[in-house]
Amino acid sequence: MKDKPGNIYQLLRHAMVAQVEMGVGELIINRKNVKKTAAPPAPIATPVTAGESDLFASESHGPAAVQYESVEAHRRAICECQLCPLGATRNKFVYGAGNINADLMFIGEAPGADEDRLGEPFVGRAGKLLDRILAAIQFTRDDIYIANILKCRPPGNRDPLPAEEEKCLPYLLEQIHLIQPKLLCALGRVAAQKLLKTTTPLGKLRGRWHDFHGVPMLVTYHPAALLRFPTYKRDTWEDMQLLRAQYDSLR
Ligand code: URA
Repeated sequence: MKDKPGNIYQLLRHAMVAQVEMGVGELIINRKNVKKTAAPPAPIATPVTAGESDLFASESHGPAAVQYESVEAHRRAICECQLCPLGATRNKFVYGAGNINADLMFIGEAPGADEDRLGEPFVGRAGKLLDRILAAIQFTRDDIYIANILKCRPPGNRDPLPAEEEKCLPYLLEQIHLIQPKLLCALGRVAAQKLLKTTTPLGKLRGRWHDFHGVPMLVTYHPAALLRFPTYKRDTWEDMQLLRAQYDSLR
């Protein structure tokens, strides 16, 4: 991870450069400026403290109820999955990627065409933007882990079907269990609503900390949404400040 800037001038310069790199149209220099120009973010709940996760305490998660000795053992066990029809149409199974010892894990929706071709999450246009977002808060892919709700691409990039999510979710839960991140960040509506078991709109979920089985989880916009609606970048920038601050507070 890159060094954090020190004095106020460095901080200011750093924030400006990061915002430009992330593509925030108008520089946000202080909270006053944000309030004047942006829709107010949803109330920020106090982050829950990362405690012992109850992820596997009471429920059986189907195939993932088997305890795997490592992330790689888990990947090998599930990478030929045919539990849902997406197994027949995928090119590559997209397990997840990044640092298996990371304290921060991002969760997206499902592989797209590029991910399906390469077998890696977030390697297309949305992935490039995610890299810039990460860089804006001084992270690289080596600092984090990324996985999706679905491991296989839905044809034509349609939304995951509930039956597909149900089959695939135990895999993600096992990944979280193995990686043991201290913080989670759900990217977009599908990931947020699925993990939080809610139909609350994304606009109300984002910018707040939620509890995911004892692990604090922030919700923000999906980078693909930012490509279509660049005005959301301002809110995303705010969300990323929360994420970084909470991450730093763990240190
Ligand atoms: N969108 C996602 O949600 N996940 C990916 O891996 C790529 C695009």
